[in-house]
Amino acid sequence: MNVVRSVQWSPSGDAVRIIDQRELPSRLIERNLHTVEEICDAISTLAVRGAPAIGVAAAMGLAVVAQDLARGAPANFEECLNSAAREIRTTRPTAVNLAWAIDRMLARAKLTRGGPSEIAAAMRAEATAILEEDRAMCDRIGVHGRRLLPHGARVITHCNAGALATAGMGTALAPVYRAAAEGGVARVYACETRPLLQGSRLTAWELGRAGVPVTIIADSMAASLMHRGDVDCCIVGADRIAVNGDVANKIGTYALAVAAHHHDIPFYVAAPASTFDAACPSGDAIRIEQRAAAEITGAAGGSIAGVDVWNPAFDITPASLVTAIVSDVGIHRPPYCFSAMS
Ligand code: MRU
Repeated sequence: MNVVRSVQWSPSGDAVRIIDQRELPSRLIERNLHTVEEICDAISTLAVRGAPAIGVAAAMGLAVVAQDLARGAPANFEECLNSAAREIRTTRPTAVNLAWAIDRMLARAKLTRGGPSEIAAAMRAEATAILEEDRAMCDRIGVHGRRLLPHGARVITHCNAGALATAGMGTALAPVYRAAAEGGVARVYACETRPLLQGSRLTAWELGRAGVPVTIIADSMAASLMHRGDVDCCIVGADRIAVNGDVANKIGTYALAVAAHHHDIPFYVAAPASTFDAACPSGDAIRIEQRAAAEITGAAGGSIAGVDVWNPAFDITPASLVTAIVSDVGIHRPPYCFSAMS
């Protein structure tokens, strides 16, 4: 499957090159990120988004910053590096991949003997490893997850957990791409995913581009579609998976899981090792990002005003509603206990 590369090194190697997802589907634009400010802005405004892609971009971004700092060889190299790491880490709180990637980069820096240039070179190697591992994990999720899809599957998904959300072919969409390549997918229903429309703008765009039959629905239509008998299974990604199997993912995932449970339709979650949080016992411990009110009010062309807005970016789907979790190491079934995945 010919999928897009959402995060990579720029050709000259001095920047992180991303597809600017704010522009899709109208325009396919790539941007080079050079500075901490550019990296933080790209992550917090969802130019680069999706838990694995955020982690990869953060790791590569920190490597770029380290390289830049090393060129100036400041006496406070370590202090500047730690401050950049702190800034990047706090851009988005729910996807554990971000903190995981930053921790891994800082650990590599700490273990490296030598001065700023040796540390910067080691961090670049570590960021490249994180990028390549993410691609490989997506491939393995595709292989394992493929086994869950019946021939001629009609699949429903929420948000975007495809190539745009990772460095590779995606998490939830990796099994779909694999099955589709063998003619095994009849249709993917992409929930539009209010309020920022990652489903209708991004999932529909990348599946359509890859030739996978896709239909957009408003989030509120999923239960009716299931009631009609038009859905064989649900598959979604995750931003953090707790030890007990509770899953944080885009707001609306929980409602989809409840509807699937009611209609006796399997509900699958796909995620790489970097999304499992061994320090998080259950969904209650997951911090949910609250986003600006304008994301909701803006949906009506700015015509909604003077009322309070609640805009959580994610929700928690309890493990009891999750039929199976596909990771890069295989298919996990309840009862879940993920104490040592990454
Ligand atoms: O706010 P977003 O667009 O970053 O949210 C993304 C999701 O919720 C995805 O489903 C999740 O990160 C998994 S991506 C492989």
